[in-house]
Amino acid sequence: MPRDTSDRDPRYDILFEPMKIGPVTAKNRFYQVPHCTGMGHMRPRTLAEMRRVKAEGGWGVVCTEYNSIHPSSDDLPTPSASLWNDSDIRAHRMMTDAVHEHGALAGAELWYGGHRSANLMTREVAMDIQSVPNAVGHPFQTRAMDKTDIKNLRRWHRKAALRARDAGFDIVYVYATHTYLLSNFLNPAINTRTDEYGGSLENRTRLMRELIEETKDAVGDRCAVAVRFAADEETGEDGAPIFGERREMFEIMANMPDIWDINIQDYSLEMGVSRFIKEASLEPYMEFIKATTDKPVVTVGRFTSPDTMVSQLKRGVMDFVGAARPSIADPFLPSKIETGDLSAIRECIGCNICYSGDSTGTPIRCTQNPTMGEEWRKGWHPEKIEAAHAEESVLIVGAGPAGLEAARALGRRGYNVMLAEGTTELGGRVTRESTLPGMSEYARVRDYRVQQLQEMVNVDIFLDSQMGVDEVMEVGADHVCIATGSTWRKERYNWETYVGVAAEGTDPLILAPDDIMSGRLPEGPVLVYDEDSYYMGSVIAECLRNNGNDVTLATTSENVSAWAGKTSERWRVRSHLARLGVKFELAQELLSFDGETATLSDVFSGAEIPVHAAAVVMVTARAPSDDLYQALMDSVDGNADQLPFTLKRIGDCEAPAIVAAATYAGHRYARELGNPPDPDEPLKHDRVDVGETPEGAHLNGG
Ligand SMILES: Cc1cc2nc3c(=O)[nH]c(=O)nc-3n(C[C@H](O)[C@H](O)[C@H](O)COP(=O)(O)O)c2cc1C
Ligand code: SF4
Repeated sequence: MPRDTSDRDPRYDILFEPMKIGPVTAKNRFYQVPHCTGMGHMRPRTLAEMRRVKAEGGWGVVCTEYNSIHPSSDDLPTPSASLWNDSDIRAHRMMTDAVHEHGALAGAELWYGGHRSANLMTREVAMDIQSVPNAVGHPFQTRAMDKTDIKNLRRWHRKAALRARDAGFDIVYVYATHTYLLSNFLNPAINTRTDEYGGSLENRTRLMRELIEETKDAVGDRCAVAVRFAADEETGEDGAPIFGERREMFEIMANMPDIWDINIQDYSLEMGVSRFIKEASLEPYMEFIKATTDKPVVTVGRFTSPDTMVSQLKRGVMDFVGAARPSIADPFLPSKIETGDLSAIRECIGCNICYSGDSTGTPIRCTQNPTMGEEWRKGWHPEKIEAAHAEESVLIVGAGPAGLEAARALGRRGYNVMLAEGTTELGGRVTRESTLPGMSEYARVRDYRVQQLQEMVNVDIFLDSQMGVDEVMEVGADHVCIATGSTWRKERYNWETYVGVAAEGTDPLILAPDDIMSGRLPEGPVLVYDEDSYYMGSVIAECLRNNGNDVTLATTSENVSAWAGKTSERWRVRSHLARLGVKFELAQELLSFDGETATLSDVFSGAEIPVHAAAVVMVTARAPSDDLYQALMDSVDGNADQLPFTLKRIGDCEAPAIVAAATYAGHRYARELGNPPDPDEPLKHDRVDVGETPEGAHLNGG
């Protein structure tokens, strides 16, 4: 239950001090920096409700994602927000009204993509400083901007700022980082113009200075002007900034905006995954910032610890605690600190599944927070849940991420919950995976839930409890939920069927990730064969390399950890493994292994190559561990309605997937118990509404 603010630890008072930002005042120091959602201009209702929940959770500032200022900067299939016309004003108004309802400020980030946008939707020619290839791999080049283009850009920026003001925003951004157009103007390596916008530092900062001044002139009486700026000039070793001329550049503009929002060049560090990057990693980059400006400063660092936040504020590293992912994992982070409810904080695990929504052009989801993105569509709230529909009991078998989340949410609803786990540990796959190199923060998925469960008198946890049909029947629960996870297979899937890889007549050492996680480490050279393409193959390779094995990572894909490109970690994975001495064989299919030689076949040419190995670890696919579910169904010949309880399987034991799918499945089970959605219309549909249907009913739920 929420406590009141008098429970706040006085150490954290500073986090709740109001602070002026130009003409507006933030009620506290919690600042949700711009982050996209895969919703943008396409799903305004979903977006507005998601941001409202953050404001309700206590964030003093809640920003949008990047807003295109003109059709010549379009990022589809990633749906950015937009500020092109009055329709955008109406859409944004839904968000600003919602955010203001809770006393928070709303910020809008204005964006022009330059060489990063191919304009696949609008088909406008993209513009940048020079005619250069598209930076994200589309076969389109930009046109070099002439002075008329620059004048147009300034006018579009001003008009977008006015629209942002009219939409009710309190903070308007000039966005000069993340290798978009404005950051290219600042960059001496890219900006080779010979006119007044290129060459000297003064010239290269000219456009940015003009935009800050013009934005202030347009909206500065009512809105604060923020600037996103990178403190360093180029990417170097982690934590060792290469400032170049950034300090001088910053000095020139130090007091121009109302607030500085500080980033760095290396996005894979700024938005780093926990496997490689820990909390507060930007601190070394902030060295000169606060000392150079009189204006407030916000920066980021996947802050989830209030002590780290306070330390950075008190030591003058920043004035506002900037957060994207911590606010996604726990929209109520500020309010939990305010009410002294620290153990209830749902800490971000740094997996970047939230970012995969961007990469795939789909609405945001979060591993830790299953309600993220479902606030409008399903009416899910991260901290509120409907009371139990009846005084009934639920047996959950399996305490992995799905079972734990189901138990937690059902416990909150007030059901009598029995959680039976077959092993002596809670957490299932997240407990096992968190023992692998760099993966320790994945245990937060377990820890947050176990912490909550321990406080609930209506939830009983039984460890070391193997359940069969008889044991389930004996419990006499009203509802049974099977969440028994999955196991890694030792075969590969050839797109028709699962096939073994042992050469005929041999019995070689073939392992799966489950063997490695339970400490069964082979000796000698190992081939890790990855058809899963997410993190597991690379983590197993690292684990074996740390064990002293000679490791070759082979994959059918043309990239190492191909899917991890969507979470923005693939690049780091490959360079990290290369530094450790892991060898790679890309676009290779494993044909056979005889205990000494693994035979790979090139997926394009069919050419075969031998790899010397004493063992192969197959990272291919998983088999649902659904024996109990199947046995229960068999006990009634498949007629589930003849069971004395409702029966459902969830998570990996239904269909193996990412951890975020498991926590979502657990949460969904809990929400829908006694409250099933209409199977014919299970979701509200946020879409462009063309008005009344012929039947007279409104689309979009009203
Ligand atoms: C899902 C996601 C989307 C993001 N989209 C944007 C964006 O639209 N504009 C932007 O300036 N930064 C964006 N960022 C970067 C964040 O603003 C922030 O700099 C970064 O995530 C580090 O902060 P954190 O550790 O608090 O997550 C995004 C980050 C995430 C996780
Ligand atoms: S998806 Fe992962 S990285 Fe993103 S907010 Fe959730 S826990 Fe953090």
